[in-house]
Amino acid sequence: MSDLKQFPSTFTWGVATSAFQIEGGATADGKGPSIWDTFSHTPGKVIDGSNGDIACDHYHRYPEDVTLMAGLGVDAYRFSMAWARVQPQGKGAWNEAGFAFYDRLLSELEAKGIAAHVTLYHWDLPQGLQDEGGWLNRNTAYHFAEYAAEVARRFGNRVKTIATHNEPWCTANLGYGNAQFAPGVADARQAIQVSHHLLLSHGLAMSAMRAVGGKAQLGIVLNQWTADPATDSAADIELAKFEYARSVQWFMDPIFKGRYPAFALQKHGELAPVVDDNDFKVIHQPIDFLGVNYYFRAFCSAEVPPRQPEFKLGKTDMGWEIYPQGLTELLLKLNEEYELPPIYITENGMASPDSVVDGEVPDLARIDFVKRHLAALQDAQAQGVNVQGYFLWSLLDNFEWNSGYAKRFGIVHVDYATQQRTLKHSALWYRDFLSVQKAR
Ligand code: FCB
Repeated sequence: MSDLKQFPSTFTWGVATSAFQIEGGATADGKGPSIWDTFSHTPGKVIDGSNGDIACDHYHRYPEDVTLMAGLGVDAYRFSMAWARVQPQGKGAWNEAGFAFYDRLLSELEAKGIAAHVTLYHWDLPQGLQDEGGWLNRNTAYHFAEYAAEVARRFGNRVKTIATHNEPWCTANLGYGNAQFAPGVADARQAIQVSHHLLLSHGLAMSAMRAVGGKAQLGIVLNQWTADPATDSAADIELAKFEYARSVQWFMDPIFKGRYPAFALQKHGELAPVVDDNDFKVIHQPIDFLGVNYYFRAFCSAEVPPRQPEFKLGKTDMGWEIYPQGLTELLLKLNEEYELPPIYITENGMASPDSVVDGEVPDLARIDFVKRHLAALQDAQAQGVNVQGYFLWSLLDNFEWNSGYAKRFGIVHVDYATQQRTLKHSALWYRDFLSVQKAR
């Protein structure tokens, strides 16, 4: 691992969370149900049978959590708004009490000098829209644009960035492709059509927010990886090429080039999405920043069972390979293929089976993980990639989707029975690291 050098003084340091994973307050003050409320309350969907009803109770404890962030010395906080909190049905009436919560949160952040980076959609579609077909229904994209415009109108001058979507790959492929996530559909054709509607909704929301005006930078957050063939067999090489095309280029090409990647389209064959004439014009418009979430690479083996990587640096509690050099490789590849706006690493982090012993959580593996990824990020910067910030996932242990509370990603430990927060060693390390970065 190369040593960490000084980052530019303008570099943004942050932590990230999302609404459903931390807020709780599932029915508080007029919030409507989302597909994750429904899904997590359906037996068998979440490994530990848990749900997001209370989660980290951030809905009530946000002042304490913002104080925690301020103590770490972060510049920025990335969080998402729960659409069903501010518009319970996903269309029609706004819920003023829901907006009031985000207003209070923003005031708290402003008071502590922490910049807000908002995501509009982190997977919690209002159930009312799901009842009308969810993201498979093209109309959902238009409802999303109305929600985006309303957020921009109310908060567009108080937040640093607004991302339309978080990881549309997951919404489409895990929500509609293999049923691991809400709404729990397993249908390849639907997954691909949904991915198109998500991209369309991104474009419509961008236009709607631009029309409102405001200071916030507008963009999108994509989960991305490099795809390495397991061997140099033709089959593995083809598989890796398809994986990169269907996962990374599938979302990047429409936004940056106004088309789907030909190779993925050809492989999808008759599963290719229905696209209206004007759609690419809507999707292909400038964005002010690109958010990249990086956790692991794709290791592509056509053998049965598939070959596994060597796991030279081990794996996380999710079973994900620790592969920091993939971040450098990904950023260089993106930089070569696209005319990129500034990049933020909007998520990076790892799950580990942490517990509090004598008041301490010595999560040394997480510190090593973050250091290695920051070094990988610097390697990319040194080779010309414009990365302007890094958000550690996550501030708090939280509801890790279909893994429930069993997987802990936080730099702050949460005891769910008492809601006690305890800084893990990684949080103390991050605090000290940031103070050194800022002192120089
Ligand atoms: C990402 C999600 C985030 C969290 C991390 C571990 O895919 O955006 O909500 O679950 O993975």
